[in-house]
Amino acid sequence: MYSLVCRSPAAVVGMAISNNSFVYESAEQWRTVDDYFVETLVREDEPLRTARLTSAESTMPRAEVAPNQGALLALLARLAGARRVLEIGTLTGYSTIWLARAAEHVTTLEFAPENAAIARRNFAAAGVADRIDLIVGHALDSLATLDGPYDLVFIDADKPSNPAYLAESLRLTRPGSVIVLDNVVRNGAVVDPASDDDRVTGVRRFLEMVRDDPRLEATAVQTVGSKGWDGFALALVR
Ligand code: DHB
Ligand code: MG
Repeated sequence: MYSLVCRSPAAVVGMAISNNSFVYESAEQWRTVDDYFVETLVREDEPLRTARLTSAESTMPRAEVAPNQGALLALLARLAGARRVLEIGTLTGYSTIWLARAAEHVTTLEFAPENAAIARRNFAAAGVADRIDLIVGHALDSLATLDGPYDLVFIDADKPSNPAYLAESLRLTRPGSVIVLDNVVRNGAVVDPASDDDRVTGVRRFLEMVRDDPRLEATAVQTVGSKGWDGFALALVR
């Protein structure tokens, strides 16, 4: 079913490793392997699937997390023993549902009313509406109204505001809380210190703030697969 090594030259973007037959796979193979992992391990029921697919009707089609990333968020919440979760950037609620099923309560912030309307339907269908507060508006305005501590924060909204979201996340967490930032790769542009793309500078400034803050222990990980090349940063509040 799943071809593990595709030898079509055009598809091979990497090179042979040492003397075995393993090659860095093509983007197509990364997708195939992701699909295999998702089909094998990720339990995505119909309401979750609908929440994921309805992102196509949102202001940002396909900006939702991949199924295995949704499962990772849920696992992180469970590993952290998270009860209260804060999500910045709801879209149509796919990651929100994963988090709500892993924790007791999620506060989720969405800028676009049309996305929020879809998300509310998805929450009801998933049976988690009573555990989610969805606040529509500018996230920085909404954040100012919140009190912590939250046990896990997932930041996945407008990228230029990442530094401000981190500052608010630190105000709203406690030692032991987890902070996750989505979309740290920016198609590789994250390495460019001269970038004038405010989404890139938003990620870079976030990472520098994390580096310089003794309260945070962190890493960042690149991902491949069904959503293409991207990655996330993960931080623990000490
Ligand atoms: C974009 C934003 C996201 O949060 C994401 O996961 C993927 C793409 C975007 O801005 O295009
Ligand atoms: Mg994202």
